[in-house]
Amino acid sequence: MEHEQVVIHRGARSGLPVIVAVHSTRLGPALGGCRIRAYDGWRAGLDDALRLSAAMTAKCAVAGLAHGGGKTVVALPPGTVLDADFRLAVLHDVGDAIESLAGGYATGPDVGTGPADMAAIGERTRHVFCRPVAAGGSGDSSPATAAGVMAALRVLGGASHAVVGLGNVGADIAARLLAAGKRVVVTDVDEAKRALVPGAEWVAPDEILGADVDVLVPAALGGLLTPASVPRLRCRAVAGPANNQLDAPATADLLHARGILWAPDHVVSAGGVVYATQVELHGATHEAALARVEGIGDTLRGLLTAASANGTTPAFEAEELARSRLLT
Ligand code: PHE
Repeated sequence: MEHEQVVIHRGARSGLPVIVAVHSTRLGPALGGCRIRAYDGWRAGLDDALRLSAAMTAKCAVAGLAHGGGKTVVALPPGTVLDADFRLAVLHDVGDAIESLAGGYATGPDVGTGPADMAAIGERTRHVFCRPVAAGGSGDSSPATAAGVMAALRVLGGASHAVVGLGNVGADIAARLLAAGKRVVVTDVDEAKRALVPGAEWVAPDEILGADVDVLVPAALGGLLTPASVPRLRCRAVAGPANNQLDAPATADLLHARGILWAPDHVVSAGGVVYATQVELHGATHEAALARVEGIGDTLRGLLTAASANGTTPAFEAEELARSRLLT
């Protein structure tokens, strides 16, 4: 088994399955967000937690953090309505599950959660990042994640971008790209999100893969890049904050064979964890933490240089870098 520890609690208050996967604590306490969303059964949630926690190990290692990888998933039965009381029950169940790991894992926001939820989890455990600033945390990590993605996108260059998904991070990136004078194409499964980025061109979700742009920016749920979708791409590079963009590692080779540069998601998306840990654990100022986030651009540049020198891919070089840091 690849993971160090996986706990699955039936929440005492909510009755829902709370899954905490600790992939590695080799470099320090595991870190990874809390995802609350619908899954077709808790086993699908478990699969997601296993994959996402492994990616967090690589993310922290490549970002140079003294942390391992973990993830929390609360698998909601499809159609579950989380009213305020039920949501609080779920979050307290999450807090208890995390507290049972006694500091070996700390959580933060992820798909379906934000700073207010972190404050609620914080009523049951202190191992939680990104509570609101007023509650003593570093607040919303989305702007820092977006800043890290922008640092990566600057390395890749290009004048036009297609942003897939207008959640907190995707909408922020689209706005920053527009402000930087880029042509921006966007989509989301929720068409109402269109209003978030006036000035961007809207296309339907099933059309965005074929958008004629320089760079595709995946910012929705994972699994966008598959043997079926890669042939449809017209961009020359893919770089975005979505976790686990590839359906399988071999899809990186399909992208490479098409001459499309794929910047590994765990490299590009580290801004949130970098910012939160710098501010909350190391007493960094906002400016100093953001400067560290900018380092994502240097990291990516290093991987691109190594890949072209060695005739490999940035994904391969990122794996090597993570491996070497996990060995020492
Ligand atoms: N969702 C964040 C990620 O995938 C998790 C996180 C952010 C954890 C900030 C801690 C602090 O990287």
